[in-house]
This record gives sequence, C-alpha cells and structure tokens, in this order.
Amino acid sequence: MLENTKLIHGYPVVDKYTGAASIPKYQTSTFNQKDVFEKQDYSYTRFGNPTVAALEEGIATLEGAKYGFAFSSGMAAISTVLMLMETGNHIIVPNEVYGGTCQFVKDILPSYHIESSFVDYSDIETVEKAILPNTRVLYIETPSNPLLKVADIKKLVALAKKHELVTIMDNTFMTPLYQKPLELGVDIVIESATKFLNGHSDVVAGLVALNDERIAEQLTVYQKSFGSILGIEDAWLILRGMKTMGIRMEKSCQNAATIAEFLEKHPKIEKVFYPGLSSHPDSDVHLSQAKNGGAVLSFELGSEENVHTFTTHLNLPIIAVSLGGVESIVSYPRTMSHACISEEERLKQGVTPGLLRLSCGIEDTEDLLTDLEQALSYL
Ligand SMILES: Cc1ncc(COP(=O)(O)O)c(C=O)c1O
Repeated sequence: MLENTKLIHGYPVVDKYTGAASIPKYQTSTFNQKDVFEKQDYSYTRFGNPTVAALEEGIATLEGAKYGFAFSSGMAAISTVLMLMETGNHIIVPNEVYGGTCQFVKDILPSYHIESSFVDYSDIETVEKAILPNTRVLYIETPSNPLLKVADIKKLVALAKKHELVTIMDNTFMTPLYQKPLELGVDIVIESATKFLNGHSDVVAGLVALNDERIAEQLTVYQKSFGSILGIEDAWLILRGMKTMGIRMEKSCQNAATIAEFLEKHPKIEKVFYPGLSSHPDSDVHLSQAKNGGAVLSFELGSEENVHTFTTHLNLPIIAVSLGGVESIVSYPRTMSHACISEEERLKQGVTPGLLRLSCGIEDTEDLLTDLEQALSYL
C-alpha cells in the first residue's frame, strides 16, 4: 500500500464495533464490564480507549512500527520516553535540539542523576568522543530547528549500535511520510503531532512508535503511570487531520521548495536555510534519508529592524509559535523557540536577530510569493 492509500485505509479508519466510517469519539472515562472476572478490550480510558487506540495503530502503520503510543503533547511523549533511562545514565543530545527537550534534559534529568552532553552532530567523531561508559541514549533530531542543519541518521545509528546505545529520534519536521527513522535503524521515533500530522493548528499532541517489545511494555507502564495520555477529542481530530496529510504535505513542501529558491535569489535576503536547496551543505545527506526538503525553511534578513519591518507588512502567514499548519506560519526564533537560552548561546547556534523561520502552508504559491515580495520591498 502506498502512503496516500495507507493514510485512508492502512489502520482502523472504520469503527469495528459499529461500522461508522469515521472512528467515533468514545468520549468515556470508563467501560461497563460484563463480567468482573472476564478481561475485555477496554476498562478505563487512561489504560486505553478505542479512539486513541486507532490513532496509535495509525502512527505505528505510518512509521512502519509494531507499537504506537499517543501522549498529551510532543513534550509529554519526549519526557516520558526519556524517563525510561535510569539513575546514573548519560544521554548525548545535539546542540540544536528543540528548546523544550533542551530544557528537560538540562533542568529536569539532573534531579534523577541522569547526565547529558550537548554535541555538534555534523561531526561523527565529536559524537563518538562524547560517549561515556554510562551513556545509554543517543538522541537525534534532523533537520534541526531553526537552521535546518542535517545529521546523518545512518552514521549515528551505526555508532549507537557499535556502543550499544538506544537511539531516540524526534521526526517532527519531516514526518513519517518523508523520513522513516525506524527503517534507518533508529529504536524509538517521536513526533509532535501538534504539527504536520494533525495539520490544522488546533491540537497539541505527541506520538511515539517503536518495534522493541520490551521497551513497548515498559513505555505502556510509563504512559499509564505518568498519565499524560491524549484526550479523546484530540485523538479524533488528529485521525481526521491525518487522512489529508499526504496532499497537505505535498503542497506545503512544494511551496517551501519554490519559496526557498525565490528567497535565495532575492537581493534583500542574506541567506536561506533549507535542506532541499542544492546550496545547503548537507542536502545530499538529507535527500538520501528523506524524500524531499520538507515544509520548513529559515532565512536571514540581516537585522532586528528588518525583521520588524518585514513582519509588519506580511499579510498572509500568521506570526506565531509552532509550525505544520495548513496556514503558513512565520516565527521569530530569537523571542519564540529560543527565548529561554542566552543571547550568547543563540548567536553561537546562529540564531541571529535577523533570522526568521517559515513553515509553509497550503495557500496558492503565487499568493505567498506576491506577499513575500511586497513585504520585502519595504526593506
Ligand atoms: C521539533 C519539535 N519537537 C517537539 C516539539 C514539542 O511538541 P509539543 O509542542 O507538541 O509539545 C516541538 C514544538 O514546537 C518541535 O518543534
């Protein structure tokens, strides 16, 4: 089954109990038990719910995994998975990891005596040098936010296998449609379903997929015990959003590729960061592990003043935290995703006062180009 067909038929899309063509919202906390001694599929919604289970099967199908898990946010998924580590473990994380993950690893994990090293993943030798006797996890996120730096998944997986490390990968930017970490040997894949999977900027959710039975059993207990389960209404909205994900993503990625080329040639733009451009230093690595450049790009306007002028004249994209909606979204990493780190650290990472990130929606390409052109004309 190919991807678009899989999105419509590859997991429970018809309700097995009633035949409803859309999985109903089983809006219930508990289930009447016919017999106190007999086990039944569902007993209590924190342990499992048919609407949420359909979504969990859905993410497993899309990622090519045996097991899927749904959480109340991308961060709930990330933090619950990272808590699978034990006291005394060490984790290696890329320098440009998502801000929330950075905060969790730096501020929360030390309370459980779990150490971390933040490393430049563009150099595999640097990553290998960071491995300690107690290293347990190699955490991957590619392309990175907001500079779209690329890490070589296959090389990182080979390194992890050599040192018997568990690989965990945040695949939010590329989605399971365009990058399949488990096929590349990653052990656990995480998606913030808040973004492209749901696609309509109306839900916060996280999904996890994996193949290892022992880890799946452990994660089932953690999901149930931490209790950061996904709400039924939200699971239903994602199930609905996922059905159109193929055509949504196709249009968003086409828009991103066209806009990246347009901006790269524009005299007012100093630099464009997009792994689908041949000028991107690691576009070959990216395109060997992902189907296209994705729907997110960043660009350098040179100064805070230019950012202010440009964004006040922009009409179509909304200015917001987040990405992956049907509407284009412009974010200012300096005051949004990267607000919690110091200016010095931001500049070290390349998050300058002139940097903007654009998540392309599904608007007509011509309209987006016209809007960008007119806003740039004020600089
Ligand atoms: C790459 C990435 N991972 C994880 C998250 C966290 O997801 P959520 O906001 O759903 O908790 C985000 C949110 O922006 C993200 O961009």
